[in-house]
Amino acid sequence: MKEELNADKIKKYLKTDFIGSGIIVLNYIDSTQDYALKHLQSLNNGTLVIAESQNKGKGRLGRVWHSPYGEGIYMSLVLKDSFKPDILPQITLLASLSLTKYLKTQYGLNFRVRWPNDILIEHDKIAGVLAVMRDGALVAGMGINVNQNLQGLPEAAASLFLLLGKNCDRNKIAARFLNCFEEDFYCWRSEGYKYLKKLWLDFASLKGQEVIVHTNSGIVEGVVEDLACDCGLIIRGSMGFHIELNVNDLVKIREIFYE
Ligand code: BTN
Repeated sequence: MKEELNADKIKKYLKTDFIGSGIIVLNYIDSTQDYALKHLQSLNNGTLVIAESQNKGKGRLGRVWHSPYGEGIYMSLVLKDSFKPDILPQITLLASLSLTKYLKTQYGLNFRVRWPNDILIEHDKIAGVLAVMRDGALVAGMGINVNQNLQGLPEAAASLFLLLGKNCDRNKIAARFLNCFEEDFYCWRSEGYKYLKKLWLDFASLKGQEVIVHTNSGIVEGVVEDLACDCGLIIRGSMGFHIELNVNDLVKIREIFYE
């Protein structure tokens, strides 16, 4: 049976201090991200906006996030702190790594982050993160494919239903992930880059990986060596030179695998 989204059910599973202190459940909305940004002034720190469907779900670089009714988790989390403007790539990566850690721990499957915001299983995308900053506050948008069957998914995408062969309770998943995210958020706030790097080594897929990167200024081929302090990706090019790939420059990153 498919559960409907329900604020009380989400609360039942939450063990957080401030995340989910307010929960807004919507049925039909253009985008939870736009809703949260529009109401940012009046929403408290930790408010969760979650919807049954979105008709203008947004991904990175203006891409569409497919959001069929009652199937996936489409949520945006409002974070109000004294954030510096350069914090955005860190929060994007933190949320992606935390979501991957949660999914991997919960389901024992090999989920991984493809820098900076794609959560993959094998080569298929199961979740994505989109963080936006406005007036010093942050809105972290997350989409997770949960109960979609093949028809409800775009190309090269996976869902928990397809992986596990059963429907999952989205209230429980959203809450349990948020429990995990709040812990990671606190650790990141006290340890900063050091904590992100630790998560990156555990849950990101690209270290040592050969990649072709499409950027705004051309194509780079090389091997991923490290995560820079500002969350850029350090790549050793085929001629031995190093470049730091900034998230704002990234159009597409493709991993090269040899049979
Ligand atoms: C990506 O992979 O490019 C990011 C996808 C982020 C999708 C989520 S769904 C909830 C929130 N509302 C949106 O319009 N987008 C984010």
